[in-house]
Amino acid sequence: MIKKIAVLGAGTMGKSIAENFAIYGYDVNLFDIDEGRLKNVKNEIKIDLEFLAEEGYIKDSVIPETMNNIHYFSDIKEAVVDRDFITESIPEILELKQETFKLLDDICPEQTIFTSNTSSLGLNDMMALVSENRKERMMVTHYYNPAHIMPIVELSYFGNMPEEVYQEVEYLFESIKKQYIKVLKDVPGLVANRIQQGIAREVFSIIEQGIAEPEDVDKALMFGPAFRYATTGQLEVADLGGLDIWSIVGDNLLKVMDNRTEANPLLREKVKEGKLGVKTGEGFFKYNPETLVQTRNEFNKRLIYQLKVSQNYIKKAPISTK
Ligand SMILES: NC(=O)c1ccc[n+]([C@@H]2O[C@H](COP(=O)([O-])OP(=O)(O)OC[C@H]3O[C@@H](n4cnc5c(N)ncnc54)[C@H](O)[C@@H]3O)[C@@H](O)[C@H]2O)c1
Repeated sequence: MIKKIAVLGAGTMGKSIAENFAIYGYDVNLFDIDEGRLKNVKNEIKIDLEFLAEEGYIKDSVIPETMNNIHYFSDIKEAVVDRDFITESIPEILELKQETFKLLDDICPEQTIFTSNTSSLGLNDMMALVSENRKERMMVTHYYNPAHIMPIVELSYFGNMPEEVYQEVEYLFESIKKQYIKVLKDVPGLVANRIQQGIAREVFSIIEQGIAEPEDVDKALMFGPAFRYATTGQLEVADLGGLDIWSIVGDNLLKVMDNRTEANPLLREKVKEGKLGVKTGEGFFKYNPETLVQTRNEFNKRLIYQLKVSQNYIKKAPISTK
């Protein structure tokens, strides 16, 4: 049974992953090579937790307990040597992940499970330097940002790991109330990011062609397809509408829609102009640099609201397949 956890990398994702496990009572060692980062992250976690409490997602009493459950390390050996489950959230560089897993393989007990939060690297490539036995205890566990709020975790089940080890990991995520999905093939982007890119490609193309203003395009998504998607996945939506209708509309629309195989040039133009979004004060919309924290908090508030509401309709499978 998984009890002791280590998270490697205390950046955007590692911080949230560590606090997520700690909220549910797990003992978490958080390691980073950057001592400056380790100094700041403790306070950032406290601010996150206070925000969750303010929004009524956790009780105030959970804050000190969660803070006590996280221990900070600048020595990797000390951080991982007695752990049952280690997840890395270090930069997306294959060689760095390979070397890190090799080091972990050398110093960790043989039963320790290793996982990666990679967004784009193949599991097989990341496992290249570890022992054959360890390959049976390695997988991808891919979170969405902010990982302590977004419910989804994508779990790889690519044939290298015995069913009982995989189930141990599912049980772990069940215990922290994540909505995990089983991904059966080692493909770039797994499932959720591929779906998201498909939507984003058409959204950017609609803006590029001047079909509607940015506010209206986002509104169309939020109050059209995405309004249903939060409660009903695409396949169930198709079944409800009728697959005959979806085939005809697909034939009519897909041939006139964007089918580019690279990012929309509009994005590159904006990047060139320094319009990177919230972090530079302008992207598709303008943001006040003085209220950036507020902007991000508003975004998180909406997610927490959605998370709370979703407890009422979450179900394991959309519709019985029997
Ligand atoms: N940011 C996202 O939205 C997102 C979402 C899902 C997955 N991911 C993936 O998560 C991973 C981390 O992304 P991030 O956005 O948190 O990056 P980040 O740059 O915010 O954090 C990376 C952290 O790793 C530390 N680090 C660097 N080398 C290290 C090492 N050898 N050992 C331990 N720590 C080390 C850095 O000091 C930094 O604190 C990447 O693989 C990324 O693709 C990111």
